Amino acid sequence: MSSLTLEVNGQATRLQVDSHRLLVEVLREQLGLTGTHVGCDTSQCGACTVLLDGAPVRSCTLLAVQAEGRKVTTIEGLGGIGAERHPIQQAFIDCHGLQCGFCTPGMIMSTAALLQHTPNPSQEQIEHALEGNLCRCTGYVNIVAAVKQAAATLAQGTKP
Ligand code: FES
Ligand code: FES
Repeated sequence: MSSLTLEVNGQATRLQVDSHRLLVEVLREQLGLTGTHVGCDTSQCGACTVLLDGAPVRSCTLLAVQAEGRKVTTIEGLGGIGAERHPIQQAFIDCHGLQCGFCTPGMIMSTAALLQHTPNPSQEQIEHALEGNLCRCTGYVNIVAAVKQAAATLAQGTKP
């Protein structure tokens, strides 16, 4: 067992983890943050995407101990714990950017990362940012529309 200290959704967190445990396993099973999904478990689908120091990573590919001292943001923390729905989440609802919802947390976290550094992305930039996130339901058109709506909402300063 290793001692792991990190920040998860803005909260300092310290716990004991097996050194071979994946970040997604620790998030889901030890911290109860089950919004981060496991689709393929082999770095293919993006369902497990979280932000590590603001950058999107596949948490099924990262050992939990690699997050030592770093900031992890999951879908639960996107709008702030206990806060209202984040504009990206609202946009996915408004634009019907989800059906079964399994891919959605990963899609939203990848979108959050994109809009941090590219607040007004082109169609091509959106497609590129989401190319590592697979969806077997929607056909992607509504997902791209959701990203565009989220960008527009955030640009109006509705929410930082
Ligand atoms: Fe991590 Fe599919 S579960 S990429
Ligand atoms: Fe079902 Fe994307 S909404 S996999």
